[in-house]
Amino acid sequence: MSRRMNATLEIQGLSRRFGNTAALDAVSLSIPAGQMVGIIGRSGAGKSTLLRMINRMAESDAGRIVWGRQEVTSLRGQALRDWRTGCAMIFQQFNLVQRLDVLTNVMIGRLNRRRGLAARVNALLGRFPDEDRALALAALERFDLLPTALQRAETLSGGQQQRVAICRALLQGPHTILADEPIASLDPRNARTVMEALRAVNRRDGITVVVNLHHLDAAREFCGRIVGMQAGRVVFDGAPEQLTEAAAERIYGPPATRHAATAAEADRAILAARWAAA
Ligand SMILES: Nc1ncnc2c1ncn2[C@@H]1O[C@H](COP(=O)(O)OP(=O)(O)OP(=O)(O)O)[C@@H](O)[C@H]1O
Ligand SMILES: [Mg+2]
Repeated sequence: MSRRMNATLEIQGLSRRFGNTAALDAVSLSIPAGQMVGIIGRSGAGKSTLLRMINRMAESDAGRIVWGRQEVTSLRGQALRDWRTGCAMIFQQFNLVQRLDVLTNVMIGRLNRRRGLAARVNALLGRFPDEDRALALAALERFDLLPTALQRAETLSGGQQQRVAICRALLQGPHTILADEPIASLDPRNARTVMEALRAVNRRDGITVVVNLHHLDAAREFCGRIVGMQAGRVVFDGAPEQLTEAAAERIYGPPATRHAATAAEADRAILAARWAAA
């Protein structure tokens, strides 16, 4: 690994308002390379905004993000595109091209690394270099997906699709993976295989993983560090065993008020309960 790969991600006083809402309120975090960090909090706490800012899909009003010698918050042009390639995103809804086969979906991860029109046109025509194909097949094999390589993405289960998305992310050659609620749409068994895949990528490849999780049980089990957010602020930052009931109260509110605010939150609460039972 290069020295740059080992840089700590420094988030300093990051803020963002939407009207009267402070989506992020002076968030400061230092994330050393190689950590697996779970960001937890209720709906609206600012988890997605934070991840999107790290990836520069959202802009801040104040504060900055620094990685090694790079000021991420002011990158432009090719340097910004390179940053986004280095911070691969995983989304709740997998974001695969449903009608394309699994192998092509994974090779698309390679596209970000190739410059020039010719590579993109070839990709549109389904022509990828042998090297990309070999990398994609190796990634699929690693996550038990090789038999699905020639199937359309839409024929796979949610858990399989999310693991395909992880393979695609890996082909970007990232130093960091940012996963925004990657298991929120999955049943507990599939959720577990996806969290195990993220853990493998973190431990074996040394890739920093920052994962937004609605509920803390999965975070406790898989993340060495948990950051709790409430109303745009970091209200907890520590190891899972430090997350006491009092700390959980700061994040989620007192147990009596931990009702589901939205249907989506209710769904996720049910999934979280099943996770605990599985
Ligand atoms: N583009 C936007 N326009 C207006 N308000 C926004 C926008 N993006 C986020 N917000 C607001 O900022 C706050 C934080 O939103 P964010 O999506 O980061 O929360 P979250 O913790 O990811 O929630 P969830 O668990 O529901 O995904 C919320 O109040 C949200 O409504
Ligand atoms: Mg979110």
